[in-house]
Amino acid sequence: MNLNGKVAWVVGGSSGIGAAVARELVSRGATVAISARRQDELDEVSAGTMLALAADVTDAASLTSVASHIRDELGPIDLVVLSAAYWEQMSPYDWDTGIFNRHVEVNLIGMSNAIAAVLPPMLARRSGVIAGIASVAGYRGLAGSEAYGATKAAQINMLESLRIHVARSGVRVTTICPGFVRTDATAGNTFPMPFIIEADTAARSICDGLERERTEIVFPLPMAILMKAARLVPVSMWSRLWSRSSPPDGARLNLEGHI
Ligand SMILES: NC(=O)c1ccc[n+]([C@@H]2O[C@H](COP(=O)([O-])OP(=O)(O)OC[C@H]3O[C@@H](n4cnc5c(N)ncnc54)[C@H](OP(=O)(O)O)[C@@H]3O)[C@@H](O)[C@H]2O)c1
Repeated sequence: MNLNGKVAWVVGGSSGIGAAVARELVSRGATVAISARRQDELDEVSAGTMLALAADVTDAASLTSVASHIRDELGPIDLVVLSAAYWEQMSPYDWDTGIFNRHVEVNLIGMSNAIAAVLPPMLARRSGVIAGIASVAGYRGLAGSEAYGATKAAQINMLESLRIHVARSGVRVTTICPGFVRTDATAGNTFPMPFIIEADTAARSICDGLERERTEIVFPLPMAILMKAARLVPVSMWSRLWSRSSPPDGARLNLEGHI
């Protein structure tokens, strides 16, 4: 897919990976729209080079109206990059259904809402790319990631199911699984983040993968290898491996972090 001249919408484009992808798409000649909740941040990212529209992904109607605004202003949407997400660590000693539900609302239902806003016209035109940003955290269970990881695993499954279902429709579905990327979301993390990369580097990997029409884009390479290998580890072995580093009780848990 040559990105030059394409109309692209980045959902969750006001910061982090989404903002970097939006800038990278502009530099590769795409016409770009970005959306998120914070209009000021959107305007700053856009710097007059993008269409910047405020919308909350948990509000399906507002995403549908943003999508039709983009089509009216820029033409049919060729590519949507779904980057909006919520992350907060869970504590088993203080299980917070509010935190859990928020992950489901933003990460899973939000992604579904954005897909609903672009899919019917793409199917009608028999053309378009839906690129969903999940995470390697969706590959295996990780302590603290009970909510985030569950929604990332669900996104991976949803995107794969959709890819298979629309395989003959002309619409393509790409799954993006980053390792650690330095963004607002990871700024508060207190745990080690091996192989962490900058958002600009992530954006280049994503746009390179989109241009090569990759089915999945997983980066950086060391994390991709590690987490792909982790998928092959038997459940009992994976559980034993990680339970050794698990704290014996709630008192030792430090769950203030926020990725
Ligand atoms: N950073 C990492 O290490 C990492 C690793 C693996 C995967 N990922 C994934 O990469 C994607 C981007 O993450 P990031 O690190 O770039 O995070 P980020 O800097 O916090 O960006 C998150 C984006 O989502 C938007 N957003 C959040 N809630 C929203 C809502 N309810 N409605 C609309 N937009 C909303 C935010 O904008 P507003 O606040 O303005 O709404 C922001 O633009 C996410 O899917 C994340 O899970 C990140």
